[in-house]
Amino acid sequence: MTATLPASARFITFEGIDGSGKSTQIKRLAAYLTDQGHDVVVTREPGGSPGAEEIRALVLQGDPDRWSAETEILLFTAARRDHLERTILPALRAGKIVLCDRFADSTRMYQGLSRGNLRGIVDQLHELMIGREPDLTILIDMDPAVGLTRALSRQTLDERFEAFGEDLQIDMRQGFLDLAKEFAQRFRVIDGARDMDTVASDIAAVVDGELV
Ligand code: ADP
Ligand code: TYD
Repeated sequence: MTATLPASARFITFEGIDGSGKSTQIKRLAAYLTDQGHDVVVTREPGGSPGAEEIRALVLQGDPDRWSAETEILLFTAARRDHLERTILPALRAGKIVLCDRFADSTRMYQGLSRGNLRGIVDQLHELMIGREPDLTILIDMDPAVGLTRALSRQTLDERFEAFGEDLQIDMRQGFLDLAKEFAQRFRVIDGARDMDTVASDIAAVVDGELV
């Protein structure tokens, strides 16, 4: 898949616990890259295409217990497949830089860890239906207590996952750090517990290094 893409195409994902600053930093990075003359597409998961946004509403709103853990994995993967087909791959084929708020690493963590160990199922389905990893993944790492306070202060409709609470977020933080070791080639860990400007300039430096 990658071999046929223009040299300027890059698929960059942001991961981290709720409230770690992903959307803030994606906006900052998009502005920075656009200023430098790059063609940038900002997108997010679950969602990022009309069909996937419909699935987002199914998984993030309403009674959380109406889906089994396995069905939830299927829904997130279905949303991802649509997003990949309709948004991500067309942008990469056009030589753009795609900045995506969460991708398959979030499924490996949230669906793979939170309701028992389902990582094997997540990985099998990913290989079968998605089969693509990002070129670069920025992990914004921070103490969950800080992230949770920030996330709850927003009071969005996605409270279902944010209501998981601090214990699960502590496991998620460690899980993301473990993933960063597992996929060390594409992961870069950024300390997110600093002011926005410092975090943004660290991320810009990492991405600059990948674009040369
Ligand atoms: P995420 O997308 O990872 O959930 P957001 O970017 O939405 O995180 O940030 C969560 C909240 O924390 C927002 O209200 C945002 O303005 C604030 N925030 C983001 N980065 C920082 C930072 N470095 N310092 C203080 N507050 C921040
Ligand atoms: P998001 O809108 O990124 O929330 P936040 O800005 O708070 O990080 O994601 C919504 C929730 O969806 C988030 O709690 C994580 C969850 N999620 C999964 O459980 N599995 C997935 O595959 C993805 C992409 C997200």
